[in-house]
Amino acid sequence: MIPFNKPYVTGLEQDYLEQAVRSGRLSGNGIMTRSVCNRLQNITGASNVLLTTSCSTALDMAAILSGVGHGDEVIVPSFTFPSTANAFVQRGAVPVFADSTDLHPNVSADTIAHLITERTSVIVVTHYAGVPCNMDAINRLAGQHNILVVEDAAMALGSTFNNKPVGSLSPLTAFSFHETKVLGCGEGGALALQRSDLMSRAEIIWEKGTNRAAFQRGQSDHYEWVDIGSSFLPSEIQAAWLMAQLKEAESILNKRAEQWNRYYLSFQHVLPDGFALPVIPENVHHNGSIFYVQCPDRQVRNYLISALQRAGIMAVFHYLPLHSSKMGQKWRSDKTCNQAEKWSDTLVRLPLYHTLSVQDQQFIIDQVVLACRHSVN
Ligand SMILES: Cc1ncc(COP(=O)(O)O)c(C=O)c1O
Repeated sequence: MIPFNKPYVTGLEQDYLEQAVRSGRLSGNGIMTRSVCNRLQNITGASNVLLTTSCSTALDMAAILSGVGHGDEVIVPSFTFPSTANAFVQRGAVPVFADSTDLHPNVSADTIAHLITERTSVIVVTHYAGVPCNMDAINRLAGQHNILVVEDAAMALGSTFNNKPVGSLSPLTAFSFHETKVLGCGEGGALALQRSDLMSRAEIIWEKGTNRAAFQRGQSDHYEWVDIGSSFLPSEIQAAWLMAQLKEAESILNKRAEQWNRYYLSFQHVLPDGFALPVIPENVHHNGSIFYVQCPDRQVRNYLISALQRAGIMAVFHYLPLHSSKMGQKWRSDKTCNQAEKWSDTLVRLPLYHTLSVQDQQFIIDQVVLACRHSVN
């Protein structure tokens, strides 16, 4: 079976793990964590980066920093992972679900604008498949209403919008280093901050609500409980693993782009009418995080996944929209998210991982073309 994903091991991990062990300290916010945060700062262009245990906890931190509370409305995409909404719902906020666009699963200023009310305090966007949303338009809209923007960039490390890296585009951006992402350390994440006034509180929230980071820097003679927070920082072991991946980031991203382009160019002009390939806006550079084919309808989507499975290829669909999920229905209003439902019904993700061989990828391409042609005959 060709798996859907295989975590990549660069071969440098052992060295960095040994360095972490030799440093004599394995808890978080040590030398390895600081090196990783510096590297992430360079990639993202953010003024500060805090390494977290996951993208979900980076979003939890963003939600605390946003100051949302009971009854505040937070606009979130319907087509996203539950963590995007959970972080804010846990603070008592009401999620208001924004639809995807017709051309891409991402939300846009147009699909968000009509949802803004006097109670909207945050707009959260997800950069699906590592393709950034139109952040110029979304930030302009948010600025007009004085609303904070948070980016869920779980899939978008290394992507750019108008030549600016994701992480530098709005105040708070969350990344994932889950093993399914382009760079991974099993479970991991980061919060990028592009507003220096948020940093001192962020560091306290990150360190379990204490001023331990300032104490470690010798800026205080003791540390104590000063705010809410939790154990948001990973150990030096996870940081060491991620350091190895970051060291190879350029070649990992290049390989990913090569594989993504091979799929795209092979399918272009050969899939039957009704199937579509990802649409990438011109001012966007994406990190090739996900490759998908869009099917004409749900029945064909299911047929394609089953046909690939019979051929020994694991392909999956993505996401179940939040607005119609068991949890999301608690807040369901009369507004629908038809495009999110369409993407959920029609999108098929194909295997994409560093060690996917050219031969295996060619086999997948041939089987996809065959199954798509059969499905319309
Ligand atoms: C858009 C999005 N946000 C958040 C997450 C959660 O990431 P993590 O597993 O690092 O918490 C995911 C997981 O795939 C995701 O797709």
